[in-house]
Amino acid sequence: MITGGAGFIGCHTASYFAKKGHEIVIIDNLSRKGSLDNLNWLKKQHPITHYKTNIQDEKAVEDVFRKENTIGAVIHLAAQVAVTTSVSNPRDDFDINALGTLNMLQAVRHFCPQAPFINASTNKVYGLLHNVKILEGLKRYEIEKKGGINESEPLDFHSPYGCSKGSADQYVIDYARIYDLKTVSVRQSCIYGERQFGVEDQGWLAWFIIATVLGRKISIYGDGKQVRDVLYVQDLVELYEKLIEQGSNLNGKAYNVGGGLKFSLSLLEFIDILKDQGLEISYTFGDWRPGDQKVFVSDNTKVIRELGWEPKTAPVQGIQTIVSWVKQNKDLLKSFMAD
Ligand SMILES: NC(=O)c1ccc[n+]([C@@H]2O[C@H](COP(=O)([O-])OP(=O)(O)OC[C@H]3O[C@@H](n4cnc5c(N)ncnc54)[C@H](O)[C@@H]3O)[C@@H](O)[C@H]2O)c1
Repeated sequence: MITGGAGFIGCHTASYFAKKGHEIVIIDNLSRKGSLDNLNWLKKQHPITHYKTNIQDEKAVEDVFRKENTIGAVIHLAAQVAVTTSVSNPRDDFDINALGTLNMLQAVRHFCPQAPFINASTNKVYGLLHNVKILEGLKRYEIEKKGGINESEPLDFHSPYGCSKGSADQYVIDYARIYDLKTVSVRQSCIYGERQFGVEDQGWLAWFIIATVLGRKISIYGDGKQVRDVLYVQDLVELYEKLIEQGSNLNGKAYNVGGGLKFSLSLLEFIDILKDQGLEISYTFGDWRPGDQKVFVSDNTKVIRELGWEPKTAPVQGIQTIVSWVKQNKDLLKSFMAD
C-alpha cells in the first residue's frame, strides 16, 4: 500500500514495486496538481488499485484496509507538502500530516500490525539548526559539521509543516515502542526527479527547470547561497525496498537520508549546471521565507552502515533527466501552470 501513490515520489515507488511483481494499492485523494496525470501514467503500465480516499477520514481509511486484507507493507507518502501552505492554513496541514498519519498508524495497528510501515519524514524536523555554525562562502553556505547533520541533532519543529510532519515522525517512532509496530521514519532531504510537478512553494529543483523551459521568471528567496543535499528519486525508492526487506526488524528508528555533502548544491551552483545544460535562466531575488534553512546536508552514515544503501545518482545526471522530461512534456506542463 502506498499513500500519496499518485504524487511525485509515490508514482515512482508504485512503478518500481509493480515492475517487481508486487500488487499495488494506492490511497491518494488526488489533491496535488499533476497527481491525476501521474496516476494515469502508472495505470498505463501496471494494474493498480486506487482509492480516492482522504487520509484525514479515519472511517474511510479503515474501509480500505477492510477491503484490502492482505497488505504486506505500507509506504506512507501522502501529505500536505508546502511550508508556505502550512503557514496560510495550519489546520488543514495538521489534519493531513499529523492526524492523517495517526489514522494510518491506527489502521495498521488494527488490520496488519506485522506490515513494515515506512514514513516519509523530512529534514525540516531539525528546524533552522541554530546550534550549527554556518560559514558563508562565495557561492554557498557551509556548515561547520562537514559530515552533515546526523540523527542526534536536537529536534526543533519550525513552521506548521515542521510541526505536523515532526509530530507524525514522532508518532511513527512511538507506535513501534508502544504497539510494537514495524515502523521507520525516513527524514528525507530534497528529493527530485521526473514527474515532479514542482511549484514555487515546493519541489524547487523541478520548478526551476519547468519555469525556465516555459520561459517564466524565477524568484529566489534569500541570496541563492542556500545549500540543499539532493537525492534522485530512484535512489530513494531503492532505500524503501531495503527497508521493507528488514520486515519485522524495523523497530521505530529514524534515518537521515539525502544526497549528502557529495550531492549538495547551492541555488547559484544549480543555476550554473542549468546554464551548462543550455538553459537560459531568468531570476530575481526576494526575502527569505519562514522556516527556510540556510543550509542542510544530511549525514547518511547511519543509513549507510545499517542498510548498506548509498545515493548513486549525481545531480548533473539526475537534473538532465528532468530537463528531458520537461522538454518532452511542455504542453502538459503549460496547462498545469495555466490552471
Ligand atoms: N519531495 C521532497 O523533496 C520531499 C522531501 C522531504 C519529505 N518529503 C515527503 O515525502 C512525501 C511525498 O512527497 P512528494 O514530493 O511525492 O509530494 P506530492 O505532493 O507529489 O505527493 C503527495 C501525494 O499525497 C496526496 N495527498 C495529499 N493530501 C492527501 C490526503 N489528505 N489524502 C490522501 N492523499 C493525499 C496528493 O494528492 C499527492 O499525490 C511527503 O510526505 C513529503 O512530506 C518530500
